[in-house]
Amino acid sequence: MFLDNILKSPVCQPIKKSYEHWYTFMEENIEFWLPDSEWHTKTHCARVLLLALLIGHQKGLSNEEMDKLGMSAVFHDSRRLDDGIDKGHGARAAEYYKDYCREHNFPFDATTYYINYYHDQDDSHGFSEISKSSNISERAVLLYQIFKDADALDRFRLGPDALNVNFLRTEEAHGLVDFAKFLLQNSLESHS
Ligand SMILES: [Fe+2]
Ligand SMILES: [Fe+2]
Repeated sequence: MFLDNILKSPVCQPIKKSYEHWYTFMEENIEFWLPDSEWHTKTHCARVLLLALLIGHQKGLSNEEMDKLGMSAVFHDSRRLDDGIDKGHGARAAEYYKDYCREHNFPFDATTYYINYYHDQDDSHGFSEISKSSNISERAVLLYQIFKDADALDRFRLGPDALNVNFLRTEEAHGLVDFAKFLLQNSLESHS
């Protein structure tokens, strides 16, 4: 499995099962519109998945909340049309998620929908839209922040200066900056 050697490290033990579950789910079920993408590959989504679960675990999230992060990681960049900003790919990913739930009799989760929908937009806009929605809990904003931090931590794939750590939202993500570099390096080496 992708990142197998990383999963052996002690820090990953608490989230290993969850990572394996969602990684397999992605491989078996999720279709990416841009399969030849340079920057928004399934391997990017797998690293975001791992990072989101690590932050979530450190935050003490429930299993149900961890699943929302997992589901968001595997859908979030699946509906890109190009490798640029491609504003709107979040909304398309959210719709894909919603359709997927309907077609597969999968329980739909509004928080997962919103995380996908607003992950490519400014925090302030995402916060206000998520807060307006009455059918999701206050915890959704925290999950949105965790998710955006995990996505940001994988920006090192774009270049050594591509992440401005001042924009990270959570304390836990600050603590994972070196790990994110190590994770990227490791996944490039094992798949080249
Ligand atoms: Fe994205
Ligand atoms: Fe992403």
